[in-house]
Amino acid sequence: MKVLVVGGGGREHAICWKLAQSPKVSQLFCAPGNAGIAQVASCVPVKATDVEAMVAWAKENAIDFVMVAPDDPLALGMVDAMEAAGIPAFGPRANAAIIEASKIFSKHLMEQYHIPTAQYRDFTELAPAEEYIRQQGAPIVVKADGLALGKGVVVAQTVDEALAAVREMMADGKFGASGSKVVIEECMTGPEVTVLAFCDGKHIVPMPSSQDHKRAYDNNQGPNTGGMGAISPSPNYTPEVARRCMEEIFLPTVAALQAEGRPFQGVIYFGLMLTPNGPKVVEYNARFGDPECQAVLSLLDSDLMDILMACRNGTLDHLDIRWKDGAACCLVLASGGYPGSYAKGLPITGLDEAGKTAVVFHAGTAEKDGQIVTNGGRVLGVTAVGCDLNDAIDRAYESARPIQFDAMHFRTDIGRV
Ligand code: AMP
Ligand code: GLY
Repeated sequence: MKVLVVGGGGREHAICWKLAQSPKVSQLFCAPGNAGIAQVASCVPVKATDVEAMVAWAKENAIDFVMVAPDDPLALGMVDAMEAAGIPAFGPRANAAIIEASKIFSKHLMEQYHIPTAQYRDFTELAPAEEYIRQQGAPIVVKADGLALGKGVVVAQTVDEALAAVREMMADGKFGASGSKVVIEECMTGPEVTVLAFCDGKHIVPMPSSQDHKRAYDNNQGPNTGGMGAISPSPNYTPEVARRCMEEIFLPTVAALQAEGRPFQGVIYFGLMLTPNGPKVVEYNARFGDPECQAVLSLLDSDLMDILMACRNGTLDHLDIRWKDGAACCLVLASGGYPGSYAKGLPITGLDEAGKTAVVFHAGTAEKDGQIVTNGGRVLGVTAVGCDLNDAIDRAYESARPIQFDAMHFRTDIGRV
């Protein structure tokens, strides 16, 4: 099969790395890809959000199957457009990807189907939102309704902070249309766990649990990032918690989307908080998480192509998906300054040495005059598998040691907090 993966970060490198191992995949393409992805797939210079150009390219090149990985093209209906052009595609259609694209939609869905989540109200006008914040007091959480590059959430410790956040979103247009509506919700407490799950519209198969590390600096300090590292599985996700999540959250979510005429085919990302009152949904995403994907797919023993096709064809219940014992750790090496401004084009050394003991997924890299250089905030994800979590963490850090570029920054406590 000729397969096209849409996207160009660390997550897409992990997906391409895994698909390249499938005997079913004869030719692999990635749009736009990056310098690491180019080692396992042919990179195609089409922007991930350019639905029309992507469909045209897939048609011209007789692509048999498309895997759409990032949130924006899913929300823009790239899967709908591919299928309309007769090209089978993995990922939710726009009417199901809305569980990520609109927080108000997903909160309404959870409320209607009694899926545990934080208490909330949603607002389209500033004054009642301010009034509600004053009434509820702090801590309180303010969220922009739409996609905001992971930055549309403010966990406010004071009423003033919450008021400032809601004004920035609704009056100052900080996130454009994404912030013209907001959700204001109860601040929950407890460990956070991510569960990614394959879904074919009717059946759901959770992958091993994982944990992201969103803050830029050690001890969960500093600004939020796309994710500075991930481990899988999460030690907090016990079999008892898993059983409750399946019964109270995963199965009801799939059933709810089906009942609403929005069957979900793809990967559902459950961002969960294990509160004193049981597991609750923090957020849904409509795709693999990045960098959770890099850790989780490192543990997959089955053929990813079989799974993607089964999700698309509604036959997930026929598959026996196997996972490695042990654990995985993905350590992100970022550009100095990230998530603020940072330099690009800095030469990276030590990649071959690191690649002997770990898989080095490229997130933001490019090739310049035969040399791999930095080209993004998150640059690399050094990913190692070990017999247990400590072993995986040690191997990831040890493997990353030879890698260098100017102002390289990473957390020293991935999997330890
Ligand atoms: P989100 O983009 O919705 O995942 O939110 C980003 C982060 O904000 C989450 O990973 C949580 O750490 C935090 N957060 C979001 N909603 C809540 C909530 N209701 N209570 C406490 N923390 C939250
Ligand atoms: N790692 C968080 C996300 O992909 O949304």
